[in-house]
Amino acid sequence: MTNNVTRREWLTGTTTAAATGLILSTAGAAAQSFLEPNVNPTADNPIRAHLNENVYGQSLKARKAIADAADDSHKYAFQTIFQLLELMAKREDIPREYVGLGAGSTEFLEKAAVFNALAGGDILLPTPTYGDIARFGRTLGSKLIEVPVGDDMAINLNAMRAAMTDNVKLIYLCNPNNPIPSIIEKNTLKEFCNEMSEKATILIDEAYFEYVDNPDYESMISLVKENKNMIVTRTASKIHAFAGMRIGVCYAHPDIIKRMFGLFTNTLNLPAMRGAIESYQDMEYQAFLIGKNKECQQIIYRMLDDLGLEYVESNANFIFFNAGRPSKEVEETMKKHHILTGREFKPFTNWVRLSLCKPEEMQFFADTYKREFG
Ligand SMILES: Cc1ncc(COP(=O)(O)O)c(C=O)c1O
Repeated sequence: MTNNVTRREWLTGTTTAAATGLILSTAGAAAQSFLEPNVNPTADNPIRAHLNENVYGQSLKARKAIADAADDSHKYAFQTIFQLLELMAKREDIPREYVGLGAGSTEFLEKAAVFNALAGGDILLPTPTYGDIARFGRTLGSKLIEVPVGDDMAINLNAMRAAMTDNVKLIYLCNPNNPIPSIIEKNTLKEFCNEMSEKATILIDEAYFEYVDNPDYESMISLVKENKNMIVTRTASKIHAFAGMRIGVCYAHPDIIKRMFGLFTNTLNLPAMRGAIESYQDMEYQAFLIGKNKECQQIIYRMLDDLGLEYVESNANFIFFNAGRPSKEVEETMKKHHILTGREFKPFTNWVRLSLCKPEEMQFFADTYKREFG
């Protein structure tokens, strides 16, 4: 904990520093690193490199808004819903009618799977990819057509085109993908969406959008604006550190939005929405986190290069590397050092998904990994 300030004081913004405006000043992002890196992990407090979270936590401005929202939480939050909808619309320069909110982006994946099942459709998706759509689809009895990623570890759109059938009513594309943090080249993706949205609804999951720094990448919200049969989903769970708060945003034609949400969204809670309104406007903190994520990437790339291990360049807050041994073995060994790493992702049973934490924690991981497997 930082100097003489208690963690609670920081969280609630009641420190002298907050009172004098430090938290809201340009020092805000740096002050955010008050949560010390975890370089003495224990069983109760491990390094959390197994889930793609943001270990720095929420922006201080967001934390304050969340805490303050308790005073208003007995009321329905209609006004805040519209405020957040407006903010999300404005950010993407799209009318508010094209925006939906959910308790995390999982809500949209679930709804898309439900509507697809009600229409009796099959789902076309790559593999491996983020598992929710497949999980919901399977539960609802939908047929899944799973298309393996290419030899380059990227989603293979040509193979997906070839696998398309008349009964597919939902196509899921995670971009950047997860567990492989590869992207789909923007022009190829646009071409695919233009063509295939004539035949099925395409859901593009852009959960890791904020982390991408790649000239070949582009969000597909531009196609939503052109009224294609598409849904683009985003989440506050990643860079905004709202995984436990639950805020998701989706962009789609107003007809799709109405079908998914009725009159309007009302599954969100006030503290999360008030926090999100602050977080999405705290560009300084986001820039700080992106910088830290890049530092983490470099530390792990260095380790992998030193060990001569193959990996996929990351476009997100996680790295996927070929350990040359079962990922389960890595998982078990690192767990003994209180470092949690990603579970096994079939068919890449020798590949490890490593979620990026703080640079100091990643250095600790690298040193430990080299000692065990170097
Ligand atoms: C690609 C992708 N989509 C969606 C989600 C679900 O996120 P949430 O429901 O927290 O927004 C995750 C979570 O890890 C993810 O990796």
